[in-house]
Amino acid sequence: MPVREVLKMGDPRLLQTSVEVDVNSDPELDTLIEDMFDTMKALDGAGLAAPQIGVMKRVVIFEVEHNPRYPQAPAIPRTILINPEIEYLTGVKDAGWEGCLSVPGMRGLVERYSVIRYRGIDSNGDLIEREAQDFHARVVQHEVDHLNGVLYPMRVRDMRNFGFEDTLFPSESEDDDE
Ligand code: NI
Repeated sequence: MPVREVLKMGDPRLLQTSVEVDVNSDPELDTLIEDMFDTMKALDGAGLAAPQIGVMKRVVIFEVEHNPRYPQAPAIPRTILINPEIEYLTGVKDAGWEGCLSVPGMRGLVERYSVIRYRGIDSNGDLIEREAQDFHARVVQHEVDHLNGVLYPMRVRDMRNFGFEDTLFPSESEDDDE
């Protein structure tokens, strides 16, 4: 399965709202998901949303095992989440540095809800429902934003906290973006 080209910020498709998927009548879904995983892994991403490869469908994937870009990050199970919904379980937010494969080389400080419940279906139509917090919750909110045409720089409140990763964090290893 091929690694697909990831659209970069400036491409108008990244600003569109993606459409819901009917898993029972989408013959391209399995190929899409395979390509998304191949692309995410080739680029050391923690997550990827279908519109990032130009497919305007409400499909996101994420997985964190041992990611050199997030060495302190707890593991997140390999997940395919279709037609996701997020519920914020508390009003508490925290700020964290994010990157994005569509914004290569950059990092920005973004506030996200700390504790969420997310719900969706997998490619078999089976329900996925989980509570998540901190980094896991951040990844899900970042990916779901992509389905609504939102890129993380649009959520950076103070642009002094947006810059080139190798300049912001010169001592850290130079891996690629989420
Ligand atoms: Ni992203």
